[in-house]
Amino acid sequence: MQPSSLPSGLPEPDAQSLAHSARVAEFIAAELERSAGRMSFGEFMQYALYAPGLGYYVAGNRKFGPSGDFVTAPEVSPLFGRVVAAQCAQTLSQLSQGSILEIGAGSGALAEQMLTKLAALDALPAGYLILEASPELAERQRQRLSAALPELAGRIAWVDAVPSGFEGVIVANEVADALPVERFRIGAEGIEQAFVVSVLDGFALRWQPASAALRDAVNALGVDLEAGYQSEICLPLKPWVSDLLARLQRGMVLFFDYGLSRREYYAPDRSGGWLRCHFRHRAHSDALVLPGVQDITAWVDFTAIAEVAGEQNTAVAGYVTQAMFLLHGNLQTEFTDVATSSLVNQAELSRQIKLLTLPDEMGEHFKCLGLCKGELDVPDALTGADRAGML
Ligand SMILES: C[S@@+](CC[C@H](N)C(=O)[O-])C[C@H]1O[C@@H](n2cnc3c(N)ncnc32)[C@H](O)[C@@H]1O
Repeated sequence: MQPSSLPSGLPEPDAQSLAHSARVAEFIAAELERSAGRMSFGEFMQYALYAPGLGYYVAGNRKFGPSGDFVTAPEVSPLFGRVVAAQCAQTLSQLSQGSILEIGAGSGALAEQMLTKLAALDALPAGYLILEASPELAERQRQRLSAALPELAGRIAWVDAVPSGFEGVIVANEVADALPVERFRIGAEGIEQAFVVSVLDGFALRWQPASAALRDAVNALGVDLEAGYQSEICLPLKPWVSDLLARLQRGMVLFFDYGLSRREYYAPDRSGGWLRCHFRHRAHSDALVLPGVQDITAWVDFTAIAEVAGEQNTAVAGYVTQAMFLLHGNLQTEFTDVATSSLVNQAELSRQIKLLTLPDEMGEHFKCLGLCKGELDVPDALTGADRAGML
C-alpha cells in the first residue's frame, strides 16, 4: 500500500521507514477487512502504535532523542531524573521496604538517572521495577541499564503488571499521552465518532453515530459542547489509573505529561482537540499517514485521573507545572552538583534547563500530577504553586 500524501513541511521518510510503514498499513488494512471495513480511531491508534512486531513503539525505530521523532524530559537532561529521584527518596524514607515502579520506561534514560542519583543519596529503593508495554523497548532498557549500572542489576526487574500490595512510588513520564484516544464531534443528531476506513491511497476518517461506550463517556464529562465541537477522549485512561491505584497499597504516583484540567481541555475555543503526531521533530495532526513510523499522542485530561483518585481512597498530593516541580524540587542544587562534577558543561546544562522550564518549551504545558495513598508527607516539588484547585 502506498502512503497518502504527507502534510506539508514533513521531511521525506527514508526508504526503510516507508517500507516499514507500508507493512503496518497492510496489517491495518487486513484488520479492517476482518472488521466489516471500519475500525474506531482508537483501534487504529492502538494498531499504529502497538501492533505486535510492527507498531511505532514495538518495532525497532529510533523514536527518542535528536535522531528520532521527539524528545522527552529525561532525554533532554539528566537533571530531570535527578530531581524526580530526590522526590522519590523523600517518600521512600517514610516506607520500610519501598520500591519504585516506572511505567513506560522508553530508552531507559529516566531509570538510569534516578538510580544513579538514588545510589549517590544512599537511598536506593528495595527494587526498581519497570512495566513496559513494548518488548523491544524493554530489551533496550535491559541493555542500557546492565551496561550503565551493572552493580544494581539485582535490584532491577521487569514486570507485566503493578504487583498487588505495592508500596513505594510509581512514576509514569509521558505514558498517559500514548494511550489510544477516540475522536468525537457533536453532530446534529447527537455525538458522532470518527471511524477509519481504507481508501485507494491509504486511510480516511468517516463520522458515524458514536458507540454507546463513547456516548456515555462524553456525556459523563459534564461539559457543555456546542454543535460542531470536535475533540478526543481517552477511554482506557480511567481503567488504567484505577488498576494502578487498586494495586498500590501505600505510596505516591507521579504522572508527568502534557495536559490540562478538563475545563481547559474542552474549552469552547479549543474545538479541534489535542491530538498531535511527531515525525522527525515535526508536529502535525494527520494521524492517518505513516502508520508505524510516526508517534501519535493526545494531551491528557488530568481531571479524569484526579476523579479516579477520588473514587479510590487516594488524595491528590499536588498538581503543578513541570517548571514548578523542578524549581521546588531543587533543580538548582542538581545543576551545581552536575556542573561541579563536570559530567556536562555549564552552558549545555543551562540550555537543558531552559528546555525543561521555559513556558514556551516544556515548562508550562507539561504538568506533574502527584497522587498519595496512605499518610505520607507531600514531596517538596509538589508543594509550591499547586494548581489542584483547577482539576
Ligand atoms: C512517549 S514514550 C515515553 C518514554 C519515557 N517514559 C520517556 O519519558 O522518555 C511512552 C512509553 O510508554 C510505553 N507504554 C505505552 N503504554 C503503556 C502501558 N499501558 N503500559 C506500559 N508501558 C506503556 C511505551 O512503550 C513507551 O515506552
